[in-house]
Amino acid sequence: MKPLRQPAENLETSVPEDNGTKPATDQDAASNYWDYDYSNFYSGAGFDAFDILDPFDAWWEQARPRGYYLFGQPITTAPGTRVHLVETKGNTKLENLVNLASYNYLGLSYRPEVIAAAQEAIGRYGLGASGSPILSGTIDLHEELAEKVARFKNKESVLLFPTGYSANLGVISGLMRPGDLVVADQYSHASIVDGAILSKAKTRFFRHNNAADLDRKLQGFSGKKLVVIEGVYSMDGDLAALADIVEVSRKYGARILIDEAHSAFLFGEHGRGVAEHLGLDDEVDMHLGTFSKSLGGMGGYVGGSTKFINYLRGFARSRVFSCALSPGVAAGLIAALKIVEEEPELRAKLWENVAFLQERLRNAGVDIGDSESQVIPIMIRDDARIFSIAEELIHGGVYLNPIRYPAVGKHRSRFRISVSAAHTRDDLEEGADIIIRVLRKNGICS
Ligand SMILES: Cc1ncc(COP(=O)(O)O)c(C=O)c1O
Repeated sequence: MKPLRQPAENLETSVPEDNGTKPATDQDAASNYWDYDYSNFYSGAGFDAFDILDPFDAWWEQARPRGYYLFGQPITTAPGTRVHLVETKGNTKLENLVNLASYNYLGLSYRPEVIAAAQEAIGRYGLGASGSPILSGTIDLHEELAEKVARFKNKESVLLFPTGYSANLGVISGLMRPGDLVVADQYSHASIVDGAILSKAKTRFFRHNNAADLDRKLQGFSGKKLVVIEGVYSMDGDLAALADIVEVSRKYGARILIDEAHSAFLFGEHGRGVAEHLGLDDEVDMHLGTFSKSLGGMGGYVGGSTKFINYLRGFARSRVFSCALSPGVAAGLIAALKIVEEEPELRAKLWENVAFLQERLRNAGVDIGDSESQVIPIMIRDDARIFSIAEELIHGGVYLNPIRYPAVGKHRSRFRISVSAAHTRDDLEEGADIIIRVLRKNGICS
């Protein structure tokens, strides 16, 4: 194996004594498995593109059993409030875990009406759309879904994408060109960052939710400008400081794109999202989101003026050069949207659940940051111990995912709770009890 990067000098002292992640041998220490992650393998020595594989493999061999196995463990049930899971380290099946990790915020992915609609559509149209939406892939269900989402979001028109990721990619790179300026919040989702990179526009990031910094980043640029923000920030659960951001963007003539992946169908009087919730829906030019969270399906969309949508039809390459949504998914989404429209009490239940869990955790001294939504971080801030605590949590009976660098900054490791309207009070109480017990045992809260 080729040597990896030199270990950080004080790494040993930063790892607590008895947490199960301390290197067992000198060889382990030399390899510093815990200091590496997916961000470290930019390059391998040599000129063969595959020179990167051996160092990665050597790290992975050590990293996986020590905690990286926790990513991507297969669930064997629907993403309901309780799940069964194959714990891949010991290849054991864990049953009936309280599920606090799925984005199924309204519990719609497994609603019988949604499943029945999807099954019927597959029976009629088959599994896939078998073509790009601009060629043979569009079916009547796609048109119906786009129209219904536009009506729900109160927008002139809506364009569908295969995923939320590809919606950001297609919208940002379709609209912005080299020589333009994209300014995005520093906590932007990877799809926003990748969209900006693909556009080849000059890209700047402003301090999270800081309008004064946005002002600085927009100053002195005389070309086309786009500001990109999220409704609910997906790692912290706080809301966009939209009023200030709108004011600064308007001052510089910048257009605004809001990604409401974690807020559409939940926030606001009609469930349109955070922009509606804050009374600023009409101040935002482009409203983007995903169907993979609150609607429990898959796919992305962007809403705005008909002129903007018609332009994008030809220029959003992530849509043009990708297959249209599966008919089953499109039909399931139409049924899910109908439920959202007809059952506003689901949103009320979600906010009740959120208030209950946030209070329960805060009262127990758990650091949940500045969460104002159904996304609730459990701040651990210890990159070395996050995996061993995650193991204790799943074996204790609650399913939560560890989140660490590079998904969040270094020393900002956390678990991220996703509350659902489908959770019962018992689910939430049991989940909170387990979390508090494990955190107390590890000295994370008092
Ligand atoms: C803010 C944000 N935008 C976009 C996406 C991508 O959505 P999708 O899962 O539909 O690709 C996510 C997913 O986590 C997200 O959090």
